[in-house]
Amino acid sequence: MTAPGEILHTGAAEYPGLDTWRSLTLAQQPDWRSHEDFDAAYQQLSDNPPLVFAGEVDRLKRRLAAVAQGEAFLLQGGDCAEVFDEITADRISGKIKTILQMAVVLTYGASVPVVKMGRMAGQYAKPRSSDEETRDGVTLPSFRGDIVNQYEFTEEARIPDPKRMLTGYNKSAATLNLIRAFTEGGFADLRAVQQWNKGFMDNPAHAQYQQLAGEVERAVKFMHAAGVSSDSLKRTEFYVGHEGLLLDYERALTRIDSRTGAPYVTSGHFIWIGERTRELDGAHVDYLSRVRNPIGIKLGPSTTPETALQLIDKIDPEREPGRLTFITRFGASKIRDGLPPVVEAVRDAGHQPVWVTDPMHGNNINSANGYKTRRFDDIMDEVRGFFEVHKAAGTYPGGVHVEMTGDDVAECIGGSDPIDESAFDDRYESLVDPRLNHKQSLELAFLLAESLKGVK
Ligand code: PEP
Ligand code: CO
Repeated sequence: MTAPGEILHTGAAEYPGLDTWRSLTLAQQPDWRSHEDFDAAYQQLSDNPPLVFAGEVDRLKRRLAAVAQGEAFLLQGGDCAEVFDEITADRISGKIKTILQMAVVLTYGASVPVVKMGRMAGQYAKPRSSDEETRDGVTLPSFRGDIVNQYEFTEEARIPDPKRMLTGYNKSAATLNLIRAFTEGGFADLRAVQQWNKGFMDNPAHAQYQQLAGEVERAVKFMHAAGVSSDSLKRTEFYVGHEGLLLDYERALTRIDSRTGAPYVTSGHFIWIGERTRELDGAHVDYLSRVRNPIGIKLGPSTTPETALQLIDKIDPEREPGRLTFITRFGASKIRDGLPPVVEAVRDAGHQPVWVTDPMHGNNINSANGYKTRRFDDIMDEVRGFFEVHKAAGTYPGGVHVEMTGDDVAECIGGSDPIDESAFDDRYESLVDPRLNHKQSLELAFLLAESLKGVK
């Protein structure tokens, strides 16, 4: 039910403190404020309707509060960077089906409710290690994601174009529309678990899924026969989140909720701050501390216990359940030594954030044939390390954050139907970080279900 006034958001032009970030260090932005189209694009975005609603954002926060308490598990997945040209029904449904399949494996395998979230409908902007890229003596601005400039290495393509924020908004609206149709219109009906597997190639992880889907189907039929209402099996909640990197975009899409008078970023339900923009005194932490969405913060291997505690004070001073998610990405070789002091300090301070593992970003390597890749074994090992650390600390391992796709790409090495580097030339599609393909994603879900069984 939509509460009266829920969708009546107004602009946030004068909200106190909301523009403090403008006077702080703002890392990782394109140089485009003086572009002739900047003001018009910003104004248009500010006038556009919200993409998500404050009531949905609040509901997600309640779900995340349950995760923090150990009563549910958060599954976040999607591309490293969404690509405008790939916003197609096939690709979006492939990602949703894969996330739904992973969620079923977890729900049924570990008897835990799963909060489902795509890195989707807004995951367009990328932080880069250098502002510029040089090839054969030619230096151009780095590619910062489709919402800023184009990947092609020409001057015209690489000049940041603020109008691309409007394209990003429109692509996000189209993506969300399809997500809502799929997840509320019967596509996510648990009685269709078998069908989600159709069209995916035969391999061991798929066979294992097929068997589990058969069991789920029998259980659902049993509940139906026993008279349990099947309404809740027909649709599912599906949230979207992205890195809140491009503050011009996030600020222009911030609205005041008419029920509470509080500001919400309406470009997505969940917004996270990346490892490279989480300086305590920086613009990103300040801006996102002032909006009411649930906020994630990536924590890499350099994180000290003090930093984690300071971030809590800044983003979540009220200790609001579900407000803060720490997404740890230490790397398989560092998590077992590096994460415990951070988790223990947060625990001892009496705070209960959602703890999520991102087993992708700490495990980047370069393949001999020149691709950015990750070993599936390292990814699995970081997940195991995450469970071990939380078990030892008596804290709850609340979720996983992965870069994945429903497509049959070859970008990460290994898996039970092993991918090796020689497949990259034909099936490597990502413009930035390598993703798990459909089968590798399912395999990871089975490992997670096993690990979670040990927690419950
Ligand atoms: C990402 O999630 O794609 C990313 C850039 O991660 P991180 O901020 O952890 O490096
Ligand atoms: Co990435």
